[in-house]
Amino acid sequence: MKKILSRRIGIIERYKEFMCVSDKTLECIVSLNEGDTPLILSEHLAERVGCDLRVYFKFEGLNPTGSFKDRGMTFAVTNAVEEGKKAVICASTGNTSASAAAYASRAGLKCFVVIPEGNVAKGKLCQAFRHGAKVIQIKGNFDQALEIVKQITEKHPIQLVNSLNPYRIEGQKTASFEICDLLGCAPDYHAIPVGNAGNITAYWKGFKEYKQAGKIDSLPKMIGFQAAGAAPIVHGHPIEHPETLATAIKIGNPASWKQAEAARDESGGLIEAVTDDEIVAAYRFLAEKEGIFCEPASAASVAGVIKLAKRNYFKGGEVITCTLTGHGLKDPDLALSFDDEVIVIDADLKKIEKIIVG
Ligand code: F0G
Repeated sequence: MKKILSRRIGIIERYKEFMCVSDKTLECIVSLNEGDTPLILSEHLAERVGCDLRVYFKFEGLNPTGSFKDRGMTFAVTNAVEEGKKAVICASTGNTSASAAAYASRAGLKCFVVIPEGNVAKGKLCQAFRHGAKVIQIKGNFDQALEIVKQITEKHPIQLVNSLNPYRIEGQKTASFEICDLLGCAPDYHAIPVGNAGNITAYWKGFKEYKQAGKIDSLPKMIGFQAAGAAPIVHGHPIEHPETLATAIKIGNPASWKQAEAARDESGGLIEAVTDDEIVAAYRFLAEKEGIFCEPASAASVAGVIKLAKRNYFKGGEVITCTLTGHGLKDPDLALSFDDEVIVIDADLKKIEKIIVG
């Protein structure tokens, strides 16, 4: 019988020449057709900052579970299956847990997620529960949760699927490949939110590997942004009680700290802080002017570009790509926390017409 390929392939198959995969790995692939997300040209950012920039948004919120985590999770869960593991575990501020739960359910693995109680956006919590994960909420923060799951996986045959797992980084680096494939070259700058610092590590690895393979001639400067209340790399020391409304990046002691610094220094970029007000302004700008609904943490990359442009960091004429890491629907509570006019009215044509046309 003819085999019908009724699916778009995922990132492992698309970029297998850049991954360490055996025939066995290819047989074990657990994929939800992640990746291949759009690179959307900004219509209004250059005008807003008064600088001639060509800015693109890599909208990772359009991955299967609504965040960039799926790129790494397909590979981490595939590897767990290949190694015969029966369960996976992660600490999370929400997106990793949603992604782990989805891929584990597809693979028939148990999934345990350890999350900070009261600090995970509702959309993400819904996903972990609905995909059947065992959700353990701790009275503590992400950094404590990560420490606990690390110790558990040292003692028990449960696969850690946080970005300390090298397969996560390998999968996530494919976003860089896609950016270069779509642009036909490397950007001049790549802007990215920084939390646990796995993603900036992965992007930089991806860009370097693409250059080494002769696919691009230059490398971007990596510009990373942490939330001001959770900016350990910027301050140069761990933050014991991180604070920010961008709960996805509310992290005080990033696991890939050193690698993030290396990405910054090797590329000649920077890692800076953006305030919650700047994050919210960028989040609203993206939704209200660009038509892109991302989650608050994602907007940190754009908040950072706006901040740097205002202080004339860019010369003009540069190509800048910004990762928008997750979808806005992840955090409905924040989305509904603004002073929107709420209109409730009888189903009356005349009254409604009056509101619309006066
Ligand atoms: N943006 C979003 C939406 C995230 O969920 C995360 C991290 C980041 C940015 C930062 O990426 O950690 O690789 O530097 N979320 C993790 C989680 C911590 O558990 O979902 P990073």
